[in-house]
Amino acid sequence: AKMSRLLVLWFFTLLLVSCENVVLPPPCDSDIYCTGPILDQVQRAKLYDDDKYFVDMKLKVQPDIILSAFQNLSSESPTVSVEKLQEFVNMYFEKPGTEWEQWTPPDWHSKPTFLNKITDKQLREWAFNIHQLWKLLGKKIQNSVNDHPELYSLIYSPYPVVVPGGRFRELYYWDSYWVINGLLLSEMTDTAKGMIHNFLHLIDRYGFVPNGGRIYYERRSQPPFLTLMVESYYQATKDEEFLRAALPRLDQEYSFWMQNRSVSVSVNGSEHRLNRFEVPVGLPRPESYTDDLELVEGLSEGNISKQQLWMDLKAGAESGWDFTSRWFVDSNGQNSGSFNNTRTSQIVPTDLNALLCRTEKTLAAFHQTMGNNASAEQYERAAERRLRAIDAVLWNDQQGAWFDYNLLSGRKHLDFYPSNLAPLWAQCYSHDPVCVFALQGSGALQFPNGVPTSLKESGQQWDYPNAWPPLQHMLIEGLSKVPSEDAKQIAEDLAQKWIRSNWKAYIAHEAMFEKYDVNGDGKPGGGGEYEVQLGFGWTNGVALQLLDQYGATLTSGSRGVCPGLLLLLSVLFTLC
Ligand SMILES: *[C@@H]1O[C@H](CO)[C@@H](O)[C@H](O)[C@H]1NC(C)=O
Ligand SMILES: *[C@@H]1O[C@H](CO)[C@@H](O)[C@H](O)[C@H]1NC(C)=O
Ligand SMILES: *[C@@H]1O[C@H](CO)[C@@H](O)[C@H](O)[C@H]1NC(C)=O
Ligand SMILES: *[C@@H]1O[C@H](CO)[C@@H](O)[C@H](O)[C@H]1NC(C)=O
Ligand SMILES: *[C@@H]1O[C@H](CO)[C@@H](O)[C@H](O)[C@H]1NC(C)=O
Ligand SMILES: *[C@@H]1O[C@H](CO)[C@@H](O)[C@H](O)[C@H]1NC(C)=O
Repeated sequence: AKMSRLLVLWFFTLLLVSCENVVLPPPCDSDIYCTGPILDQVQRAKLYDDDKYFVDMKLKVQPDIILSAFQNLSSESPTVSVEKLQEFVNMYFEKPGTEWEQWTPPDWHSKPTFLNKITDKQLREWAFNIHQLWKLLGKKIQNSVNDHPELYSLIYSPYPVVVPGGRFRELYYWDSYWVINGLLLSEMTDTAKGMIHNFLHLIDRYGFVPNGGRIYYERRSQPPFLTLMVESYYQATKDEEFLRAALPRLDQEYSFWMQNRSVSVSVNGSEHRLNRFEVPVGLPRPESYTDDLELVEGLSEGNISKQQLWMDLKAGAESGWDFTSRWFVDSNGQNSGSFNNTRTSQIVPTDLNALLCRTEKTLAAFHQTMGNNASAEQYERAAERRLRAIDAVLWNDQQGAWFDYNLLSGRKHLDFYPSNLAPLWAQCYSHDPVCVFALQGSGALQFPNGVPTSLKESGQQWDYPNAWPPLQHMLIEGLSKVPSEDAKQIAEDLAQKWIRSNWKAYIAHEAMFEKYDVNGDGKPGGGGEYEVQLGFGWTNGVALQLLDQYGATLTSGSRGVCPGLLLLLSVLFTLC
């Protein structure tokens, strides 16, 4: 008996030791861009304000020469002085941005028809200016990146890309959904098709779509919007040949999410399979290296491990919401705490599951179109299972809405996030959605310049007081699809608010921003790890879509909206 007890003890010790020593892969395999002493010392020396700057630099010579030169340099002293580091970087690295060539989209033209739908003259002129911005944001990668990939962190894409702008000088995944929708309104179908081709190419290479077009993003994804990009393109062009070619890759991406990003949740004795963001990759993010190091410095022994926190930060980046109180889980399992409580992988997100439900229905329709009835049937069943899972795990009857589910506590996070209404946008719900308006009771609609990302002011950029274009758009589109005049009216009022704040910011700064302040009357948003960026892909795409949909009634002046909205809100409160 003693022997067996010892055996059991030995077994558990082994298990523990092997768990402690799980070796996670690094963000990528490059000893310069993702791991190693050069990255570590250059980033810690803070040679540049933004950590992304160094990892976007091009190598002037082959990586092994640079590694050997650094070894020589550090043989004098393992920690190289800041002056010598700067000299070293100047000698072997080129400043970022040289891997692109000037490119003007050949399918750009000056008279897209949607402009005619915009009644307000000032808004119409502004829409034309936004339409012009595609020419500045379109870029083509030089062939040298394809010939010598070892010299670049940039991932080669065969077709030109429309980038978000600012520090985001390469392709990004979920941003591109709104960019492509904007391009389609601008009648730039070839540019849109090329962008989708780039994503299909990434699936061939990685088995999924990475967060963005840099190798340090290659082991994490972003909200999977590719199927919906293809849907937008197909609706605009009816290009069946393209759909047939894309479909196997869309299936492959869907399998990746189901195999590598899903979790089984048991509620009331039934098992449900839902999805989450989860990135089993160790080490700090190369592009935010010192932020990640500083954050774990404060961790005391016995608390969450460094490696766990770094994984959850990457999962936060994968969610697109980097960063937010939405992913905070404190030691009591509550949705509170601070940045070092980020536990993204322990939360089942409402928006990701709504998106995948819409994806399943869209893939079913695509397979039906292609005559693959058996596959269509499989996706339809997957969508039905998803709907049951969303009902069982995410729906809350008292509140009349959906909420993120916490895997650690087994409870929902009952705070306001616009993502709570994503099932409306996805058309993936079975409950009467009338009382989703109870959410308005949360106060989220009271702000003059958009719906905030949350009602918590954490200092993170995906929180109050910031409002983000994709969230405004999904909320407005979701409400506009609810079969209720009141919901449609709220959607229209939100569109008016959003367009007016974008417009005011444009007049004041002659720029489109990535995010705005809900109280700022055209002031850009702030907070987070970097300065607010201009450009800006998804902002332009969302503005064009709203101007297209509501162009007949939107105005640039400020008359008339507020009293109407107040009246509506009071009606809604009595309704719920
Ligand atoms: C590193 O030092 C060795 C020995 O002195 C030398 O042969 C080599 O060229 C150096 N490497 C570089 C890249 O400077
Ligand atoms: C998905 O997970 C499997 C193991 O379950 C692993 O072999 C595979 O590499 C993962 N795929 C990707 C693209 O990370
Ligand atoms: C579990 O099932 C019971 C009986 O059907 C129901 O009343 C209850 O609300 C369910 N609980 C959850 C968390 O769904
Ligand atoms: C997390 O950060 C907070 C605020 O910066 C700090 O007070 C706390 O000690 C940190 N927690 C741990 C476990 O290190
Ligand atoms: C950190 O660990 C200590 C002791 O193990 C515990 O009391 C404390 O609650 C933990 N803090 C967090 C934020 O997890
Ligand atoms: C597939 O479904 C379509 C429409 O439901 C039907 O017309 C067609 O005959 C089916 N094809 C096969 C091979 O079952």
